[in-house]
Amino acid sequence: MAEIGQNIELCKSLLSQNEVIGIPTETVYGLAGNALSQDAVLKIFEVKERPSFDPLICHIKSIDDLGQYAFTIPDLALKFADAFWPGPLTLILPKNKQIPDLVTSGLDTCGFRVPKHPLTLQLLNSFDFPLAAPSANPFGYISPTSAQHVQNQLGDKIPYILDGGECLVGLESTIVGFNQEGRSIVYRLGGLSLDEIKKIDPEVLISINQSSNPVAPGQLKSHYSPQKPIILFDRISELEHHPLLRESFVISFSQDFEIGEKSLVLTSALSLNEAAKNLFAYLRLADEDKETSIIFAQRVPGQGLGLAINDRLKRATS
Ligand code: TXA
Ligand code: MG
Repeated sequence: MAEIGQNIELCKSLLSQNEVIGIPTETVYGLAGNALSQDAVLKIFEVKERPSFDPLICHIKSIDDLGQYAFTIPDLALKFADAFWPGPLTLILPKNKQIPDLVTSGLDTCGFRVPKHPLTLQLLNSFDFPLAAPSANPFGYISPTSAQHVQNQLGDKIPYILDGGECLVGLESTIVGFNQEGRSIVYRLGGLSLDEIKKIDPEVLISINQSSNPVAPGQLKSHYSPQKPIILFDRISELEHHPLLRESFVISFSQDFEIGEKSLVLTSALSLNEAAKNLFAYLRLADEDKETSIIFAQRVPGQGLGLAINDRLKRATS
C-alpha cells in the first residue's frame, strides 16, 4: 500500500523521478505527475486506467506561470484567474509546445488551475514543473475527498499520498473555456458556482453535455458513478413503497426521513457548501456498505453549488 504522510521533500523527490503520487486539493484529491514528463503522464493514465482520449489538467503554482505554458491568454481569462485563483476553477487555454500532447490527448488546448491547498502549493513551489493531475479515482468512479479514499482504490499502484485532510470544497473544479469571439463557456459545473462566474462574465455561455462531448471529453456520461444502482428523488413519498427500501441507503439533503435501513443527511444547516463537501464521501459509504443493494439520493435545491451537486448526482445514475 501507499505510504500516507506529509513529507513534502519525499513528494518532491518522487515526482522528480517521474513517479505519480496522490495530492490534496480543495476540490478533490489528484493523481499527480510531472506534466512535462511523458513517462510520468503515461503512468497517470495507466494507474487510473483512463482512456488516452481524456485529457488531463495542469496544476500550476500561480497565475504568473501561465505565460510559460499557454500560447495565448484572453483578457477575460486573466480576469477569471485574478478573481478565483487559487481556487476551484480550471481555465481551458491554447497551450504551447512545453506541454506534451499526451497531457491534452492531442488537443491544442490545456486545462490550467492553481489549487488552493497549502501543502500542494508548497509542493508546487518546490520545483519548476506543473503537475498533471486528474482526480485520484479509477476512471469512471466517484472522486476521492480524503487520503484514505485514494489509498482504498489506488494505494497498491502508487508509492505515496500527501495527506491534506478532507477536501474543503468536495466537488471537482468548474471548467471554463473561451470561444473565438472571446466569450467564456462553462464546460463542467463544479466547486465554483455559476453566480461567482457571472460576476466576471454576466453573459457566460453554458455547454454541459450529458454524453461524450468532443470539446470536454470529461463530460462522459459514465463519470462519477458508484457501483450500486442509485435512484434520485425529490420527495420522500416517492420512496415509501419501493420494494427495495429494506436494503437501501438513503442520502438526503437536510432532513433525516427515518425511512429505510440506513441513512445520512448531507447538511444539518441547509448549507450547500456542507452538502458538497460530504457528497462523495457519503456516496462511497453507501456504495461500500455490505447490506446495501440500492442507493436513494435526494436532489438538492438547484441554486449556487446545488446545480453542480445535482449534476454529479445525475451522472452517478448512469
Ligand atoms: O478539481 C479538479 O479539477 C480535480 C483536481 C484534482 O484538480 N481534477 C479533476 O481532473 O477533476 P479530471 O481529469 O478528473 O477532470 C478534468 C476534466 C476531464 O474530464 C477532462 O476531460 C477535462 O477536464 N479537460 C481537460 N483538459 C481539457 C481540454 N483541453 N479541453 C476540454 N476539456 C478538458
Ligand atoms: Mg475525474
